[in-house]
Amino acid sequence: MTTTVSEPAGTAPAGAGSAVLEVAGLDAGYGPIQVLHGVDLSVSAGELVCLLGPNGAGKTTTLLACSGMVRVASGDIRLDGRSLLRLSPHAIARRKLAHVPEDRSLFPSLTVDEHLRLCARPGGMDVLELFPELRKRRTKRAGVLSGGEQQMLALGRALATGPRVLLVDEMSMGLAPVVVERLFSALQEIAVSAGLAVLMVEQHVHLALRYAQRGYVLAGGRVRTHGTAAELRERWPEIESSYLGR
Ligand SMILES: Nc1ncnc2c1ncn2[C@@H]1O[C@H](COP(=O)(O)OP(=O)(O)OP(=O)(O)O)[C@@H](O)[C@H]1O
Ligand SMILES: [Mg+2]
Repeated sequence: MTTTVSEPAGTAPAGAGSAVLEVAGLDAGYGPIQVLHGVDLSVSAGELVCLLGPNGAGKTTTLLACSGMVRVASGDIRLDGRSLLRLSPHAIARRKLAHVPEDRSLFPSLTVDEHLRLCARPGGMDVLELFPELRKRRTKRAGVLSGGEQQMLALGRALATGPRVLLVDEMSMGLAPVVVERLFSALQEIAVSAGLAVLMVEQHVHLALRYAQRGYVLAGGRVRTHGTAAELRERWPEIESSYLGR
């Protein structure tokens, strides 16, 4: 249950339910540079799954490949069983995959309301219900919000589209621990209540493994190990010395 390296491509280890997002035998990279080597992973509805690993492991590249922004050389990425390969990023977004990138990609001169109006889709979530902190900031420009409020807006903007799959890269970057806990707990609740499949890249391993159900450890572009959050927490010292060179 812990090692995927030797498993054949196409046997993405699944969570409790049936997988919404499946990455199978994924080779991907930039131009001639191959970064990902046979990555297998899956995320089910209602699951929060974390992707862990050292700098340069290929975590961001994995998320970018899922949203169609990195060239896939071989393998497959499926949403509800249908391949996303050869679809444009826009077409993938229409298949209800939302991506919150590391830089949050907000428009500093647009207000909170303007961001939400631009992204709202039928069936999308009520962002001000999810993040009441944003109510009193509705007329403020994104550029003057605190880091935590900006991250809530970035998450909210993705959730307003009504996704089936949410990819989140380094949500906690630059935020105070209390704010990070608030965001993790909100995401966990949203995943469960909306049946959303969430794949998040996170540097705060111990925090991530408190909120996620499962995790994958990526190093050198390969999934080195995976398991439930409890298993990974217990094995973390061994994982660090075996795969993360610490
Ligand atoms: N646009 C690019 N062109 C060429 N190589 C790239 C590009 N972006 C990333 N890489 C390389 O791909 C590898 C994986 O990078 P990636 O950003 O996916 O890692 P990461 O696990 O997200 O790391 P970090 O924790 O630092 O964010 C690294 O060796 C990186 O230098
Ligand atoms: Mg990254």
